[in-house]
Amino acid sequence: MEPSNTFFTIAWRGDCVEMLDQRKLPLEESYVKLYSAQEVAGAISDMVIRGAPAIGVAAAMGIALGLKQSQAKDIEQLEKEFLNLYELLLYTRPTAVNLRWALDRMKLKFKSLSNRSVASVSAQMEREAMAVYQEDVEINRKMGQQGKKFILEGAQVLTYCNTGALATAGYGTALGVIRAAFEEGKSFEVFVSETRPYLQGLRLTSWELHKEGIPQTVITDNMAASLMAQKKIDAIFVGADRIARNGDTANKIGTYALAVLGHFHKIPFYVVAPTSTIDQACSSGQHIPIEERRREEIMVIQGHKMGLDDVAVYNPSFDVTPAQLISAIVTEKGVVEKPDEEKIAKLM
Ligand code: MRU
Repeated sequence: MEPSNTFFTIAWRGDCVEMLDQRKLPLEESYVKLYSAQEVAGAISDMVIRGAPAIGVAAAMGIALGLKQSQAKDIEQLEKEFLNLYELLLYTRPTAVNLRWALDRMKLKFKSLSNRSVASVSAQMEREAMAVYQEDVEINRKMGQQGKKFILEGAQVLTYCNTGALATAGYGTALGVIRAAFEEGKSFEVFVSETRPYLQGLRLTSWELHKEGIPQTVITDNMAASLMAQKKIDAIFVGADRIARNGDTANKIGTYALAVLGHFHKIPFYVVAPTSTIDQACSSGQHIPIEERRREEIMVIQGHKMGLDDVAVYNPSFDVTPAQLISAIVTEKGVVEKPDEEKIAKLM
């Protein structure tokens, strides 16, 4: 079980997929069991599980579950069902490319299998989903090793959204780097920006850091500029939902603001993401689809209506940080400093 033996983000149970219900954190630690691919798709859309790598793993497990439950009599029928499952899961969340990456990997596996009996294909697809899960944890640990040098002894680092074990199969991306530096014995402090409107920073990152005993201070998002002006932030670490091949990076709404602030204050800005987050088919940030979510996520707080019904609300879930504001992209394959198309192509 990764990364902490006190909780898990997602687990394969053979007849179902079990997930920690992230909507309820940090006040309640409860798990939900999903007994069909449809339920897994619903859990991704409803944010029971979220974070780019984690939803990729969930989608792979959703496919495995759907195929395992199939009544298909032959491989042609199973393939039709596979394609329906693929579509069902693909449109649950549009921005994080890890979802499509995981589904494409499952598709490639399906097509590559030589023993085409229904039972054998379904068993091998289950193993592939497990591999997607396990490899994600290994990749996160590698990124932690690659990136920990950017956290200096005594540093004060800022992080945004949740990029930890909860956003991955385990360990985390940007939070994995923070974890790796802490495991190495460095002392430093993490400023956790709350991440309006969904509060992934306040609810999830703070909860993870607290469990690990990593020193933290929570701030609201609008405090970051003032802290930077006071020279209280030495480095900024964020994750990514999709990186275009020129290095432009989509991440949680508000990330771009932090990158601009970091640039103005000459604070290094690091993006930590597996290469499965790099979308080589996407030439620049302009082409990254940005998910818009429900108005209630902004207008209702803890069940209390805070705004007026007849007022328009705009709720984009992600924004794009141009590559020139990024000091380095940390991946499992290496670090790309001052990313651009050429350097990213070389890494891939
Ligand atoms: O809407 P969410 O919570 O799924 O958004 C998550 C993020 O933006 C993370 O920063 C990103 O997925 C990278 S996490 C490893």
